[in-house]
Amino acid sequence: MWAVVPAAGSGQRLGAGRPKALVQLGGRPMFLWCLRALADGGVDAAVVAGPTDRAGATALSGGLRNAGVAMPVSVIVGGPDRTTSVSLALAHVPETAEVILVHDAARPLIGTAVVERVVAAVRAGAAGVVPALPVVDTIKQVLGDRVHATVDRGDLVAVQTPQGFQAQVLRRAYAARTGPATDDAGLVEALGEQVSVVAGDPDAFKVTRPLDLLLAEAVLSRRLAGSA
Ligand code: CTP
Ligand code: MG
Repeated sequence: MWAVVPAAGSGQRLGAGRPKALVQLGGRPMFLWCLRALADGGVDAAVVAGPTDRAGATALSGGLRNAGVAMPVSVIVGGPDRTTSVSLALAHVPETAEVILVHDAARPLIGTAVVERVVAAVRAGAAGVVPALPVVDTIKQVLGDRVHATVDRGDLVAVQTPQGFQAQVLRRAYAARTGPATDDAGLVEALGEQVSVVAGDPDAFKVTRPLDLLLAEAVLSRRLAGSA
């Protein structure tokens, strides 16, 4: 089983002045954390789509050295948007791979349990699998500054990564894409393939803004205190 890890982009909303994958979290570059969890969850090898600038790519490869990740990880140069980054990384996954997980480097604190849930559902036959959490806020549809409708959130979920796929379905979905997509499962849905949902992981939140980084540091401190 292989993982594709989009880790390019410039992290505009975090505002750290460098790609998020390289921002320090718990004393190591952020992208390293998810690699450990993916390996623990049964992933055999990964392709990371890293920053497009030479300095960023060098820093990312350097971060991998002596990082103790228990699987082979190759680093390729990502693209101008996430969909292109994933597509470029997919081209480096061997044709023999049967299951592919796609996981955002910007979700560093996934637990192994969510990886295992996703993998189990793919192995059980699902074309695609997404981990999801209930939506906590009330969601309203607006037109300009006016509320048009309040959406029933009972059947809405917030979707995370890792998303898991039968490799050939994911490759077909990427081959058929017509532009950037918000997530990988969306491309699989566009093929008419069924995507299943498993329970998400509250710790799998995406580090998007400065507050998320504070939260991630707090989660790590809690884990360290728990294991002490
Ligand atoms: N990503 C990528 N290639 C891109 C853009 C994003 O591989 N060209 C990856 C990011 O590294 C991240 C995930 O896709 O793991 C989700 O992207 P996002 O959170 O939007 O990261 P950035 O685009 O870097 O952040 P921002 O949108 O705030 O600039
Ligand atoms: Mg972005």
